[in-house]
Amino acid sequence: MSGEIIAIYPGSFDPLTNGHVDIIQRGSRLFDRIVVAVLLNLEKSPLFTVPERVDIARSVFASYTNVEVDTFDGLLVEYARRKRAGVIVRGLRAVSDFEYELQMALMNRRLNQEVETVFMMPAEPYTYVSSRLVKEVVALGGSVTGLVPSVVESRLREKKLARETLRA
Ligand code: PNS
Repeated sequence: MSGEIIAIYPGSFDPLTNGHVDIIQRGSRLFDRIVVAVLLNLEKSPLFTVPERVDIARSVFASYTNVEVDTFDGLLVEYARRKRAGVIVRGLRAVSDFEYELQMALMNRRLNQEVETVFMMPAEPYTYVSSRLVKEVVALGGSVTGLVPSVVESRLREKKLARETLRA
């Protein structure tokens, strides 16, 4: 449909946190369509495979008709062009996020003037939540209840059990 505003929300999502969920919900209210785009990266030791991350996001947003979950590689702005998206959404938690986000937004603008980066703040309880910290807390036996969707919490528990069994 012409005139539709399509937004891309790119990231690693290893794993999806409630901070990501909050931003996607805000995006789904603001834009006609929001595409959660999981980067097919070459990170050496991700916790979740890309198909697992896609599967988790699809199950969390199964009831949202304007949320799509996809994967991408290569330049984000080229992917945005292919999806006919005019907006890249990024979440900003704290000042510490700003420098990296500013660099990416300006580089993406240089690469494609037609795509605008829009920053959104997550709800306050999620301003300190990151995938990296979630993984660290779980690995060390702490609880992440309320910080990630319940499907992520149970999959994290399964992964931890599997790793412990392998080590035993
Ligand atoms: O959630 P993340 O891991 O911080 O997301 C980073 C992401 C996926 C947005 C970024 O690495 C990216 O856009 N990668 C695609 C490659 C690209 O376009 N690079 C130039 C943009 S500055």
